[in-house]
Amino acid sequence: MSRTPQAQIRREAARRRTFAVISHPDAGKSTLTEALALHAHVIDEAGAVHGKTGRRGVTSDWMAMERQRGISVTSAALQFEYRELVLNLLDTPGHADFSEDTYRVLSAVDCAVMLLDAAKGLEPQTLKLFDVCRHRHLPVITFINKWDRPGREALDLLDEIEQRLGIVPTPVTWPVGYAGGFQGLIDRRDPDRVVRFSRTAGGATAAGEEHVRITDELAEEMSGLRPALEELELLDGIGAHHDAGSFLAGASTPVFFGAAVSNIGVRLLLDAIVDLAPSASARSTRDGGTVPVDADFSGLVFKVQANMDPAHRDRIAFVRVCSGVFERGMVLTHTATGRPFTTKYAHSMFGRERTSVELAYPGDIVGLVNAGALIPGDTLTEGQQVEFPPMPVFAPEHFATVRTTDLSRSKQFRRGVSQLEAEGVVQVLVSDRRGGQTPVLAAVGPMQFEVVLHRLQHEFGTPAVLDPLPYTVARRTDRAGEEQLGRMRGVEVLTRTRDGELLALFIDEWRLGSITRELPDLMLEPLVAQGT
Ligand code: G4P
Repeated sequence: MSRTPQAQIRREAARRRTFAVISHPDAGKSTLTEALALHAHVIDEAGAVHGKTGRRGVTSDWMAMERQRGISVTSAALQFEYRELVLNLLDTPGHADFSEDTYRVLSAVDCAVMLLDAAKGLEPQTLKLFDVCRHRHLPVITFINKWDRPGREALDLLDEIEQRLGIVPTPVTWPVGYAGGFQGLIDRRDPDRVVRFSRTAGGATAAGEEHVRITDELAEEMSGLRPALEELELLDGIGAHHDAGSFLAGASTPVFFGAAVSNIGVRLLLDAIVDLAPSASARSTRDGGTVPVDADFSGLVFKVQANMDPAHRDRIAFVRVCSGVFERGMVLTHTATGRPFTTKYAHSMFGRERTSVELAYPGDIVGLVNAGALIPGDTLTEGQQVEFPPMPVFAPEHFATVRTTDLSRSKQFRRGVSQLEAEGVVQVLVSDRRGGQTPVLAAVGPMQFEVVLHRLQHEFGTPAVLDPLPYTVARRTDRAGEEQLGRMRGVEVLTRTRDGELLALFIDEWRLGSITRELPDLMLEPLVAQGT
């Protein structure tokens, strides 16, 4: 039992802001992450977080593939201090194929920053991710990026947010100059001034800011100023002002403009995270209750990752502290099994850097090493009976059998497949008919398969090949369904090993439709993302 006073735990929780950036790939998430960290004085040179080609890298490079493909498969959890607060930024993989992973990360944050490309507005992946935020009642701050490049009109982008997402955009900053002709920003809380920025070479340091009083002379000098003031009048007229209540309820989103690559507008966004985003607070539990932040320790495992660093071949469970204080060395209870879990090796992860974590408070993320028994969705506590809601499981749309090409490595192959399943990298389906040697892998996106093959080869030393199956649609069924469908063409029933669900796989919607018409009483339920 911790001896930290409850008042201190409440104070520390109130200092925490735990958030993630959601965006479509290429909108600038890595760039923004670096810029945020740069402003918070965690790192002194942009490019130290993700290490894309050509930048100095502190990358979680357990997969060379990640860099080759230019995708971010792994998630880093960054912690930095800003204005006496502690910010925890959880990185989410950008590629749609890893949506499940992103969903899990979003279960561990209190707020999301939705990043849009000024030229593209809402893109498919942004829409999907926004839906998750809505399900989870997460407040969303919007950052419209790349204003230094030709793009759409600011009002047009706001309109799209309102129409397609059904939330009210409430701009906090407003751009002076159209996209591509960026001249500065007006902070609506200080509407008599323009913030002008001086760029720095390659965006390597924070942009210089100059707050200039708005005068007629300034309007002559800055061609974008009068149009911006007219637009602001329009916004004032419709009352599009930030409102804390509706933001926290997910009904409105404060909007910021900027160019992450030159660090423009980034400080204002960071201030907004501090001033507007909610602090760590009571969390909902599986049984519909809540756990206050000052209760005994409880934590949610939201991500498990093996071999993040080739120098440390181990498995790390990322745990969000939900209540109480985490003290390194404490013995916790793994609620799913009732077994004790020792926390001797607890780390914070900053890219590739690991530092031991001695203490962590609600909102913080702790990486627990050698967490073999933990899977996403698990709860760790000081012994009390608390369980957090299960992690969402997605409807897979891609299926393939997998087998090893080196039979002498069959044992490693089986171990690898079951570990990758436990981590949530892929779903695994089995049936008596197919036997245990060639399980069926089910994925939301095909890139998950590439990750499986790569990791089987490189971590488990077992080369494997995939044989794609023609199915594209999955439905949940029961024993009666299994029996009836077993005799039909274009459909196959398998058991999902993760939860024992029986899944009927159909070659396409058309086949599913014809079977449903033929056998209307059959149980064929869509797989919804559970737990969201
Ligand atoms: P992601 O993580 O969301 O996938 O995006 P990332 O940060 O990698 O950014 C995608 C591309 O957009 C990068 O260019 C990046 O430099 C550029 N970018 C990000 N923010 C801004 C911005 O505010 N203005 C402009 N003009 N560009 C921006 P790239 O050519 O793909 O890579 P790089 O070689 O420049 O790193």
